[in-house]
Amino acid sequence: MPRSLKFEITGLVALSAFALLATSLVIQVDPRIALGVFANPQLDILAGVVFWTVMTLLASALPVRMPRGTLVNTSIATLVATMSLGGPTAAGWVALIGATELRELSGRLPWYYTLANHAVLVFPAVVGGVVTREIAGMIGAELGPFGSFAAAMAGATVFFALNVAMTSLTVSISTSQSLRSVVRGDLPTFFANWVALSPLAWLMAFATYTVGWWATLLFALPVWIMRGALHQIIEIRQMFTQTVASLAQAVDARSDWTSGHSQRVQLISVDIGRVMRRSEKELEALEWGGLLHDIGKIGVPDSVLDKPGFLTREERAIMNAHPVIGANIIAPVTKLAPELPIIRHHHEWYNGSGYPDRLMGDEIPALARILHVADAFEAMTAARPYRLTPLTGEQAMAELRKFAGIQFDPEIVDAFTKTHWAAGINDSGRATEPRPPVPLLAQAGGRMAQAAAANAAANTAGTNLAAATAGTNPAGTHPAATAGTNPAGTNHAGTHAADASAEGVTAPAPDPAS
Ligand SMILES: [Fe+2]
Repeated sequence: MPRSLKFEITGLVALSAFALLATSLVIQVDPRIALGVFANPQLDILAGVVFWTVMTLLASALPVRMPRGTLVNTSIATLVATMSLGGPTAAGWVALIGATELRELSGRLPWYYTLANHAVLVFPAVVGGVVTREIAGMIGAELGPFGSFAAAMAGATVFFALNVAMTSLTVSISTSQSLRSVVRGDLPTFFANWVALSPLAWLMAFATYTVGWWATLLFALPVWIMRGALHQIIEIRQMFTQTVASLAQAVDARSDWTSGHSQRVQLISVDIGRVMRRSEKELEALEWGGLLHDIGKIGVPDSVLDKPGFLTREERAIMNAHPVIGANIIAPVTKLAPELPIIRHHHEWYNGSGYPDRLMGDEIPALARILHVADAFEAMTAARPYRLTPLTGEQAMAELRKFAGIQFDPEIVDAFTKTHWAAGINDSGRATEPRPPVPLLAQAGGRMAQAAAANAAANTAGTNLAAATAGTNPAGTHPAATAGTNPAGTNHAGTHAADASAEGVTAPAPDPAS
């Protein structure tokens, strides 16, 4: 167990134990939790605590794992109900025992995670119970059911906030993700859980108090359905992620040289994105964009993909069509709309001499610039048919520095050096302060050629080389791709810098079609 995690869990457990013991000594269990089945009031209160503990055990039995690693279950409902009925002491003890999961009993969970899982419920339940009790004491009697509802919602909010904070901190430390990333990644589901279950919890408590303990059982079904729906949402998301990963693996598997390439590019891209503090949505776009960036290579023949040595101009044209082909393949999947610019523009150069659209500087989508650096580093440090010996980390880093401001965004190269991928690699740092890219004569010429090609494509359908070189290429049928901006068929006069570097002029620059 990492030292930081040890400190964190020790702190959580100490805090929770202190809160539970202190509250137990100072605040008695509220008799409203009594079941009303025994003549002895103390026994009846104890029966109530046992009843809510069993309910919480059932709610905790089948947690749902969220994408960032936190576990969500429906025990917030039974704990908030316990806070309303029995106060902080009852809620603390119910949380302590009721949070036991099947994984703990079967020994599948390390002991320190078991402690942490109980601590992140006990402390919030005690504090939430105190808040509920105090607010109910102030306004409950005057406002009747509305007062108890307001008190329960206030307590549930405190419980939710503390539970999310403590859980996210533990996950953040144990998985080395930033706290912000964990909280923001899973917050929508936490929030939905809180919004859906908090009022239900109050209703359960209210029904129990006014009707009887058996009325609580009527709420078990909706809570169970809620848990099932949450599980299904997560499952569908996982299935989508796994399908995308399988698709990427299928593309990589076409060549022995690129096995695992997309997954490594995905990991490097996301790490750069984290260093650059990109939003959760952007990190997710990098995840899927990283996996799918070379999906367009489906339209590239094996003879080109695996060719040792340099490509001819025609072969290079076919290879360079893959970002556009990839974007066209993904275009019908609306869920992947944020990944489209990444896939289409991951070979644009910072100085405007990349492809397919010869975008320059900030014109290139930021996430595509990130992926370009990740793609290049991965490609340089792996063997390829045209370069059997991979570059060392130092050599690859030197290339990134050398081409910063030319091929790569210098700020993104800087960010890459702060990821763990660059750990232990000698880095000379920026050679000079980067300047904004200046339009080159060749680039201006390229843009004029593109404009001419656009007109030509509009007037003469069917001459697009991308369509001609790949019979099933969607570029031939997708209006957006044949609008004349696809240079795959028109911009391979062999003059632009990306082609030059690919043919060895600036070797060993990163392979632009990696
Ligand atoms: Fe690529």
